[in-house]
Amino acid sequence: MKFFLDTADVDEIREWNATGLLDGVTTNPSLILKSGRDIKEVLAEICEIVDGDVSGEVAATDYDTMLKEGRALAQIASNICIKLPTTLDGVKACKTLTGEGHKTNMTLCFSATQALLVAKAGATYVSPFIGRLDDMGIDGMELIEEIRTIYDNYDFETEILAASIRTLNHVKDCAMAGADVATLPPSTIEKLVKHPLTDKGLEAFLADWAKTGQSI
Ligand code: E4P
Repeated sequence: MKFFLDTADVDEIREWNATGLLDGVTTNPSLILKSGRDIKEVLAEICEIVDGDVSGEVAATDYDTMLKEGRALAQIASNICIKLPTTLDGVKACKTLTGEGHKTNMTLCFSATQALLVAKAGATYVSPFIGRLDDMGIDGMELIEEIRTIYDNYDFETEILAASIRTLNHVKDCAMAGADVATLPPSTIEKLVKHPLTDKGLEAFLADWAKTGQSI
């Protein structure tokens, strides 16, 4: 499973990119707002840091302006992935932009039928929002499982990019359900490696090692 970082904070992106474990980055208008930066400027900087795909989202809701904005974003760098909302105009724009050779990420996906449609439109990624479904009392993970089944049934190449991830269980369940990518906020990705028994066990090993008086 690939890990993307869900942020427009270049310091955090640099830090996680240095681990060699980062496969890409996702941004959205709220994350651009949080960064306080100009969208084109910050996306250009992120694309220089990270080799993998970097999603930048259009702000338009109509087909023609989505195309204009999508093409402008794609000019920033070769690893830009144009993020489009899963609406009829968004799906149409996806079809056109994919046909032009651009990568696309269909965002705000909340149903299996939406995921089916964006795969037919040739999307590079579909982004089902798990956490926001959970917030409404709907099991977001079921959606990941449904999309996996549908894509496997028809050999769709669209990758399932699990988004709106809030917990470590979301990450584990996505991996078990066969999501291709999980996009994680920095606060969640850093928790992946943590376990209290690892810390406790290491402390005991180090104490015993010190008593041996040896060095390696
Ligand atoms: C990523 O592409 C999404 O924009 C993001 O994961 C949304 O997460 P949120 O529901 O926590 O805002």
